[in-house]
Parts: sequence; C-alpha cells; structure tokens
Amino acid sequence: MKHYLTINDIGNLKDSVSEAIELKKNPTQFKSLGKDKTLCLLFFNNSLRTRLSTQKAAINLGMDVMVMNFGSEGWQLEFEDGTVMDQGKAEHIKEAAQVVSQYCDIVAIRAFAGLMDKAQDEAEVVLNGFTKYADIPVVNMESSVGHPMQALADAITLAEFGTKAKPKVVLSWAPHPRALPHAVANSFVEMMKLQEAEFVITHPEGYELNPEVTQGCSIEHDQEKALENADFVYVKNWSSYTDYGSVLNLDSSWLMTQGKLGDAKFMHCLPVRRNVVVEDAVLDSDQSLVIEQANNRTFSAQIVLKKILENL
Ligand code: CP
Repeated sequence: MKHYLTINDIGNLKDSVSEAIELKKNPTQFKSLGKDKTLCLLFFNNSLRTRLSTQKAAINLGMDVMVMNFGSEGWQLEFEDGTVMDQGKAEHIKEAAQVVSQYCDIVAIRAFAGLMDKAQDEAEVVLNGFTKYADIPVVNMESSVGHPMQALADAITLAEFGTKAKPKVVLSWAPHPRALPHAVANSFVEMMKLQEAEFVITHPEGYELNPEVTQGCSIEHDQEKALENADFVYVKNWSSYTDYGSVLNLDSSWLMTQGKLGDAKFMHCLPVRRNVVVEDAVLDSDQSLVIEQANNRTFSAQIVLKKILENL
C-alpha cells in the first residue's frame, strides 16, 4: 500500500480485519518492521483517540514518532498555485510537504472540514496537497470528507462482536448542538458497502449525506422502523450536506435510548455528548462497544502502517 486515504486503499477488507484480530493477540510481533523508520503526525485539529492510538500503533511496530499540532504551531499554509503571498499565509504547501518528507518516512494528517464551503472541503486541499507534494506515503487521520482509520476500527469491532453471517447494521443520525462534519458517517457508509450485512441509514429529512457516498444504500426516515431487529446501531451526528454545514434542528426525539436500542449493540466513534446524542443508560450498559472501538483504533492504525512499511 502506498497511501491510506480512503477505506478502499486497504485492499481486501475482510483479510485486513482478520489480520488485525490476529495482531491483537501479540501486538509487538512486527517490532522490527519499523526499526529506523519515523512517523510524523500532523494535527490541524484536536484529537484524543487518533493521536494516542496512532502513536501506540507506531510504537508497537518499532517506529519513532514525531507529533506536531500544525493548526496552532505551524505556519499558516497557502494551497493555491501562483498566489502572491502578501497576506497572512507564510508558507506554501509545496515547500512544507517536501520539507516534512525529509524528516520522516510516513506522514499522517488530520484536517477537518471547515463546513463553510462545500467545494473547498471536497477538494481536500490539506490531504491532497500533502499527497501531491510529499515524497512519502500519506495517511488520512480524518480529512474533510473521510475518516478511514475509524472505519477500519469499526470493521474490526463489527467482526469481533458479530454473531450472524449477515447482521443488520443501522447508522442513525443524532442531535448535536454544533455543526459536525460528515467524515465519520461517510467512511462508515463506504466501509459498510464492503460488508456482508443488511445496512440501513436513518436520519431526519434534510440530513441526507452526499448521494454519491450513499448510492445504493437503504435510507429510512422513520428511525423506529429502521431500528427494528438491528444487531448493531452506529449513532453519529452530522450537519446538513444539502444546506451545507447547517444545524437544521436539535430534535431530541432522535436521541438514542435503551428502549430504542433493544438488544442491539451500540457503537459511536467518540467523543460523544452524553444525554444529547445517547443516554447514559446506553453508554453505561454492556451493549455499548465504544471503548472496544477506541481500542481497535490502535490495531486499525497498526494494520495500515504495517502495510505501508512492507511497501517502503
Ligand atoms: N474517533 C476519533 O477520531 O477520536 P478523536 O477525535 O479523539 O481522535
């Protein structure tokens, strides 16, 4: 594997998930693979899980790690070609990406959607800028439109806790006071398209995801109907895609409750706002897989880094 930008870069998802589950039994078994190799993590946005689990994965593989909060500590980057840089942006992506390439062997980047300009977000200027100008592999740690490391961790979790050949998995929108990106939901949908499962997306009208992403998926606006006989319920807020970046409503009737969940397993990528997105009773129950999902972030990152290291 050269880059890991979307879940489709992983190759065969089922094989990669099996490999990750094997890796969990002895996480340091490939410790020599990353010897004398350095991973650089560049964060343009906050993180808890991604930052720590990706470092842990690199350590398990014997790599050295450098971390930079680029958004607050780096120079402001220019991405346009031919710009007269006489305003606030001090450094061009062309130099920045090439310079970073000299200091490490793999660069991983987190750069969220701004949610102001759909075209700009979909252009993925930060991730694509580094992919274009860096001379080294690039890993997506959540970009404007995708979070494939989370999706791979979610695939591992589904495999570990699934008891049926074809489980029913529901992605359910939830209310949230702030406008959130579509990245986690997009990548979860893309990952589910690669699964043997009955997959249903449920959200209020107006919260349709990018139709190119959800093409071929079952969409049900009646949450109760969507949740019938679910084995896994993945809850996530996202802002409107059509009325780009808007919070259209805070309809608390979409809160995930123990009653709605029934016997299904509960999933969420975290961080999660208790009693806004999901009630305490769900998160504090044995049906919640959120801590297992977070644990699997180490192994999704480790599989990605291992595949890249093997190709260096
Ligand atoms: N799920 C996830 O990406 O968590 P962080 O934002 O804390 O990294």
